[in-house]
Amino acid sequence: MSKAERRFFTTPIYYASGEPHIGHAYTTILTDVLARFHRQDEKDVLFLTGTDEHGQKIQDEAEKRGVEPIELCDLMAERFEEAWKRLDISHDRFIRTTEAEHKAVVTAFLQRLWDRDQIYEGTYSGWYCVSDERYWTEKDIGEDRRCQVCGREVVYVEEKNYFFKMSEWQEKLIQHIEENPDWIVPEVRKNEIVGFLRQPLGDLSISRPKSRLSWGIDLPFDSNHVAYVWVDALINYLTASGAIDPSNPVGEQGFDDVTDSWWPADMHLVGKDILTTHSVYWPTLLMGVGLPVPRQILAHGWWVVGDAKMSKSLGNVVDPLELRETFGTDAVRWYLMREMPTGGDASYTPERFLIRYEELANVLGNLASRATSMIVKYRDGVVPDGPSSGLDAAIDQTLQEVRSSIERLKVHEAFAAAMDLARAANVYVEERQPWAQAKDPSRSVELDETLATLARVLVVLCALFQPVTPEKMEVLATRLGLSGVPTLDDAIASQPGGRAVTMGDPLFPRVDPAREASSD
Ligand code: MSP
Repeated sequence: MSKAERRFFTTPIYYASGEPHIGHAYTTILTDVLARFHRQDEKDVLFLTGTDEHGQKIQDEAEKRGVEPIELCDLMAERFEEAWKRLDISHDRFIRTTEAEHKAVVTAFLQRLWDRDQIYEGTYSGWYCVSDERYWTEKDIGEDRRCQVCGREVVYVEEKNYFFKMSEWQEKLIQHIEENPDWIVPEVRKNEIVGFLRQPLGDLSISRPKSRLSWGIDLPFDSNHVAYVWVDALINYLTASGAIDPSNPVGEQGFDDVTDSWWPADMHLVGKDILTTHSVYWPTLLMGVGLPVPRQILAHGWWVVGDAKMSKSLGNVVDPLELRETFGTDAVRWYLMREMPTGGDASYTPERFLIRYEELANVLGNLASRATSMIVKYRDGVVPDGPSSGLDAAIDQTLQEVRSSIERLKVHEAFAAAMDLARAANVYVEERQPWAQAKDPSRSVELDETLATLARVLVVLCALFQPVTPEKMEVLATRLGLSGVPTLDDAIASQPGGRAVTMGDPLFPRVDPAREASSD
């Protein structure tokens, strides 16, 4: 398969210090939807996710729990894998940064930077946030001396550090952004990075002294230091791509030739809070070792609850797995994809969740059950051969809209268009009134056409909704007499006449109001 037909999608790797929540679920489901869409579109996909297991956060949390860091990581990696299984995430690879392969690639990467004279030894003296492992300038922290990310008090440190010559790559990075206007999406985030790059870019500290932090990967040229966790973490994308054979990092399969691997990634999906690390640190590090940069970075917005930021201390963290217990996995996926404009922010409320659920039930679910039950009732469960072109124009238009929305990374618009097609099909039912056609034997041909058209639109909807509601679309495919959810092209070409259809329970059943979505 040629490189153009491949797609490599990544999520951030999540800190193994806390439980998965709705923010992690959003990034992962969004990536899953894109991965599934491209598989449906017959692309060869690699979908990567995993856990970020080194660094101070993990070391501190393990200490708090009285366990070894690796025990905490084993437990949390399992939690994330379990959560992704329950949310129907179709990743191909779950990477852990404590894996031997990853450690070897990080070592090779740092050695390569060192060999290319991209690293120097220096002294850092200044303010440091222990929790976020970040250095801050006097100007950043203000008078109360707090970390700009987590708000905790910063400490003054003076220590030997290794620095990557990030500043050398500033011009090349700016040029790359100018020449590739869609490299960072959405535009508002790109503009933030462009603004950030108007200031002179400093060099990047890439090490932490072992005396303070031992839970990390040793620097190959100084074992008294470990790699800064962000450098370690970002390299995960490269490890999973298979570009670097750690036993032979240069030459045919290595830094000098990545053609047989998945590198460069087609898209890194990240939250807006971690865009600088992905669009400044990461590409400059790649330039430093002489590798191509990722093709695109999508920074999504932030989920808040009502008006408040989600936080453990406020006790308002939304658990996607709890929502799933009441409404099912597909409903959670649908809500998250449909409610947040891709790239923007959104607020979780139980009321909005219910409204989105009812949309699934009353539009898509209702169409599926009325169409299948009429085929069973009026035609003994066999789709008539009649022409099935009654909704062809709507189908064509929807397909165009869906493809173009996905291309423009407006996932919410893609599924709004798909839902509109289901709505149009319900209107078609109301207009054609198949129950009246069934009563009049002289209108048998008309009824055949109505039912064939509905069967056809359901096959197309099944393919269109599969990326976001895979579990229920599998059920629908079976009811439509298909052996599985068809690809987009197969769905369009499909001639449902003669197929045996069955009815079943509602795809999205009414939910007992006593068990409504709640953020408690
Ligand atoms: N470990 C780093 C990423 C390293 S990638 C090389 C990290 N991990 S994290 O566990 O904090 O999760 C990061 C992801 O979760 C980000 O994409 C972040 O935006 C997302 N979210 C965490 N809380 C969120 C919300 N409330 N809303 C939306 N997404 C948010 O950062």
